[in-house]
Amino acid sequence: MARILITSALPYINGIKHLGNLVGSQLPADLYARYCRARGHEVMFICATDEHGTPAELAAAKADRPVAEYCAEMHETQAALARGFGLSFDHFGRSSSMRNQALTQHLAVKLYDAGLIEEVREKQVYSPGDGRFLPDRYIEGTCPNCGYERARGDQCEECTKQLDPTDLINPRSAISGATDLEVRETRHLYLRQSKLRDRLDRWIDSQKGWPVLTTSIAKKWLHDGDGLQDRGITRDLDWGVPVQFDGAPWSGMEGKVFYVWFDAPIEYIAATAEWADALGHDEAAWRRWWRTDEGADDVRYVQFMGKDNVPFHTLSFPATLMGSAEPWKLVDYIKSFNYLNYDGGQFSTSQGRGVFMDQALEILPADYWRWWLLSHAPENSDSEFTWENFQTSVNKDLADVLGNFVSRVTKFCRSKFGEVVPEGGEWGARETQLIEDLTQGLDSYQTVMDGMMVRRSAQDLRALWVLGNEYLQEAAPWASFKTAPETAAMQIRLALNLIRLYAIISQPFIPDASARMMQALGCDDWAWPGAAGDALQALPPGHAFTVPDVLFAKITDEQREAWQAQFSGQRGG
Ligand code: MF3
Ligand code: ZN
Repeated sequence: MARILITSALPYINGIKHLGNLVGSQLPADLYARYCRARGHEVMFICATDEHGTPAELAAAKADRPVAEYCAEMHETQAALARGFGLSFDHFGRSSSMRNQALTQHLAVKLYDAGLIEEVREKQVYSPGDGRFLPDRYIEGTCPNCGYERARGDQCEECTKQLDPTDLINPRSAISGATDLEVRETRHLYLRQSKLRDRLDRWIDSQKGWPVLTTSIAKKWLHDGDGLQDRGITRDLDWGVPVQFDGAPWSGMEGKVFYVWFDAPIEYIAATAEWADALGHDEAAWRRWWRTDEGADDVRYVQFMGKDNVPFHTLSFPATLMGSAEPWKLVDYIKSFNYLNYDGGQFSTSQGRGVFMDQALEILPADYWRWWLLSHAPENSDSEFTWENFQTSVNKDLADVLGNFVSRVTKFCRSKFGEVVPEGGEWGARETQLIEDLTQGLDSYQTVMDGMMVRRSAQDLRALWVLGNEYLQEAAPWASFKTAPETAAMQIRLALNLIRLYAIISQPFIPDASARMMQALGCDDWAWPGAAGDALQALPPGHAFTVPDVLFAKITDEQREAWQAQFSGQRGG
């Protein structure tokens, strides 16, 4: 059994996330974490709120709250929603933790010792009207790379290019909209990423089987134009990890904090330390996941993220870790996603467009969303949420295929044999064929789940559900019962066992429904199926069960229309 470290990109603290955010990192990471655990691997699944920088300050200002309070509250809100969606983090940390502060400062010193940090006097955009510097998202304007008009000072969302505020064309303050901006001199620390370019290049080349989406983005920023640029890793902001601290090798940096994209990925490590702290474990407990000299050399580390995060995870964060000259575990595989669109446009946090995590759970249970989102994950291209498509998938896949199977089998058994697994005769040719088909289907499902092919996994899982329905249709126990009740009993015994198999293999996608299926079966043996034929013997004759309530209710046309109208405008509008 392997040890697998899984991190999801850290959601910004600046508000409740929409379904596009969820499917771009946290949800597929959860799918994989649940699957790996179900296969018996030792898993550490880490996420946290990304609490520093301009996104946090701007959101707190908008909510008219002190930023620390805003973050503490929003962390709890996001944690509760994560639980609501069944996200099975081993720890959901906070990048504002003391652990992260200490580790961020430690790594900055190591980088300095390695000659990779230099002090730079530079010109930054200053807004006299706002009385402050305008780093990163405090400034908006036109992207010099692609012409997108709402690019932010740190990155263009449209083309993923990392930017400096002074790069923007027609810049304006994101606080006041002011355009009377000045350029003033200030001192900052720069990470000399350019010195690490060849090492990064070799490291990326040595990665086998990374998705093209990932490597092409990394290669582009390594080689386009002047190649990998040195980056300012400090900012003139109040909220963040202080740059000036006891033992810092530099001076005069009071009132500055580290750039949010410097400390956020470090929180992957720090959150694992927070996990150990929360459980009262020692240092070794988290270090064996992260230090290759303390056991992490046999860890497989997989990261999940949206495509806009890829440059930071293929270049900036590895530069931090490599540059420190300490034996930190580097990522082994990056699974990145395109964007999910909403009904003909984009999901947008700033414009409140789309369905947000809290709203989704108010109208339907998590499994409905998990199934739709994962089976339509924007893997190879952007994908789109429409209410019609959502209704169709839920009704067809979940209600008609899986739900219907469970309901028909358990109800038929109750009415003919009572609520116990019936005895019945031997398997015949049809059952042998079914087992062969299941074996093949399971094999394929496992292969694509191992490979994190999210949509194909959903398709394979659904195909396995379909096999059960087809079997039931052909075997027709309701007919065989009249002439050969023994045969009907055998068929139903197999079908009840198939429900258990479905519960186990569907659990990574729809954990609540799986739990209800197992509960109805009175079974808590979640062992992943080896040979399908053996797995279908797990519930012996005489084993008691109950008929579960409807697993999935169909979405009616009236509901669909009502939701369509309710979510057509802006949130709260
Ligand atoms: N908060 C960032 C976003 O939502 C992701 C941060 S990932 C980490 O785009 F690497 F910084 F942790
Ligand atoms: Zn752009």
